[in-house]
Amino acid sequence: MIHIEHVNKIYKTGEIETVALKEIELTIQDGTFVVILGPSGSGKSTLLNVISGLDTVTSGTITFGDTVLTDLSPEQMTAFRRDHLGFIFQQYNLLQNLTVQENIQIGADLSDCPLPIDELLEQVGLTSARDKYPYQLSGGEQQRVSIARSLSKNPTIVFCDEPTGSLDEDNSKRVLELLERLNKEYGKTVVVITHNTGISEMADDVIKMNSGRIIELTRNPTKRSARDIHWG
Ligand SMILES: Nc1ncnc2c1ncn2[C@@H]1O[C@H](COP(=O)(O)OP(=O)(O)OP(=O)(O)O)[C@@H](O)[C@H]1O
Ligand SMILES: [Mg+2]
Repeated sequence: MIHIEHVNKIYKTGEIETVALKEIELTIQDGTFVVILGPSGSGKSTLLNVISGLDTVTSGTITFGDTVLTDLSPEQMTAFRRDHLGFIFQQYNLLQNLTVQENIQIGADLSDCPLPIDELLEQVGLTSARDKYPYQLSGGEQQRVSIARSLSKNPTIVFCDEPTGSLDEDNSKRVLELLERLNKEYGKTVVVITHNTGISEMADDVIKMNSGRIIELTRNPTKRSARDIHWG
C-alpha cells in the first residue's frame, strides 16, 4: 500500500515558484488499477515522479508498506526503485543499437528474480521480433518492448505516464490489454496517467487533478476490459 500525506511540491526556477502539488492525500491499495486524469500542467507527472522517487517532495510523507520513501537517501531510493518499481513512458526510451531481446535483458539484469525473457516476449506478442532493432518496429511494438523491459525485473508496481500517448486506437488497446493482464493475472499495482477519459473505465480508482490538487476520487463499481472501453 502507498500512503501519501500532506504532500506539497514547489518548483523554484530563479525567482519564480510553481506550486505543482498542493496538500495531496492519497492511498493506493496493493493490486489496484489506478487512472490519473487532469488537464495539462495539473501536476499528474509531478505526482507520479514524487511517488516513484524520480523527484523529491517539498514537504509531506510518502510510505510504501513499511518503508518511508521520503526518509530514504538518494542511494536508498535508487535501490528501492530498482527493486520494486517499473516505468512506462510515452517515449519508449529503447536503446537503438540493441535488439528487442537485449533491450528486455537490460531490465532483467537489474533484478535478483527476473521474469523469463521468453515468457515476456510471448506475453507482449513479440517472440518473432526478438532479434529486430527498434527502428524495424512500429510504435506499438516498441511500446510493447518497453513494457516487457519494465516487467522483466518483476516490479511490484508499474507507473505509466501517457503510455498510449503516441499510439493509435488498435495499438493502444493492445498495450492496455497488457496492463490489464499485468494487474489481473500478476496482481501488480498499475498507475496510469492519461488524457483519454475512456481509459478510466478500466480503473478501480480514478483520480482527477486540477491546479496541483486532487479534485475528485471515484471508485468504479464495475470495470470494463481494455477491449470494451470507449475511445476518445
Ligand atoms: N522541473 C520543473 N521545473 C519547474 N516547473 C515544473 C517542472 N516540472 C513541472 N513543472 C511545472 O509544474 C506544473 C505541473 O506539471 P506536470 O508536468 O506535473 O503536469 P501534467 O499534469 O503532467 O501535465 P501534462 O498533461 O502536460 O503532462 C506545471 O505548471 C509545470 O510547468
Ligand atoms: Mg505530464
